[in-house]
Amino acid sequence: MKSCKFGVFGYPINHSLSPIMQTAAFEALGMFECEYKAYAVEPGRLKEEILKAQAEKFTGLNLTIPLKEKVFETGLVIPDHFAEKAGAINTLHFKGEEIYGYNTDAEGAFKALEYAGCDTSGKNILIIGAGGASKSISLFFAEYGNHLKIINRTAEKAERLAEEIVEKTGNPNVFGSGFESGWEDLKNADVIIQTTELGMGKYKDVSVFDEFPLEKEETKTKLIRECLSGKTVFDIVYNPGETKFLREAKTAANVTTLNGVMMLVFQGALAFEIWTGKKPDAGVMKEAVLNALLEREE
Ligand code: ATR
Repeated sequence: MKSCKFGVFGYPINHSLSPIMQTAAFEALGMFECEYKAYAVEPGRLKEEILKAQAEKFTGLNLTIPLKEKVFETGLVIPDHFAEKAGAINTLHFKGEEIYGYNTDAEGAFKALEYAGCDTSGKNILIIGAGGASKSISLFFAEYGNHLKIINRTAEKAERLAEEIVEKTGNPNVFGSGFESGWEDLKNADVIIQTTELGMGKYKDVSVFDEFPLEKEETKTKLIRECLSGKTVFDIVYNPGETKFLREAKTAANVTTLNGVMMLVFQGALAFEIWTGKKPDAGVMKEAVLNALLEREE
């Protein structure tokens, strides 16, 4: 049996790429005493499974859907400042008698943009969607002082989220609305981050551009070109690697596009650093993820 245990809890969990990615990171550093496995944990059993992991001397865990928010109810975890504000924890670290909680998702998104050559400081950022992923990312950039617009199919959710973020960060430049001003919002943004599930699964053939209203004389193709040229467009979806949204965004001139692969890699790399104090090789982790995605396509 391996002496250093890690894992990911989620429900369902069978699609998680974290075991492949983290195992590649451990092996690249010669840490063969470490193992990382996926565990299906029903939300109702989260508390006892965390306690069990603690008793079995786990070092760290990742949490994924639908446990990131649920974990607060267990009362077992001491969240850091950011995880507390985000109301979501994706990384647990067992240290002595304590269990510490972190959220590395948003910093993962930030590092993915940096990796793609995008300097976000002082930029106007448009965030599409107002769910859990949007909340962490919006909060992160609001804390960094960016000007943010959050738009969502359900306008009230975006408005409420923007208000909450202003309150929690003291950054007054965070605004929310529905999709009615979508094209104008794209025009005003330097960086666009797509956080909804459009483009995935049953929404494979839908892009958020399909949901923005068009004036009679306008066409989607023309507006995409007008609003996106020269910008950075980030879709946090990693499977498929190219959503309809990214495919359409690429038709504008000089756009930098990125999918969710490097966000997945960096949120994992940041968790790895919290647990081990070592910097893993993000390139090795990326390769492991890309190979696994290719195998799934076959
Ligand atoms: P996550 O944690 O992945 O962010 P979530 O909290 O369930 O997931 O949020 C899903 C997001 O996708 C929401 O912004 C949701 O919009 P609504 O608040 O209007 O539901 C968005 N979404 C889901 N299906 C959508 C669709 N068909 N069109 C537009 N937005 C959609």
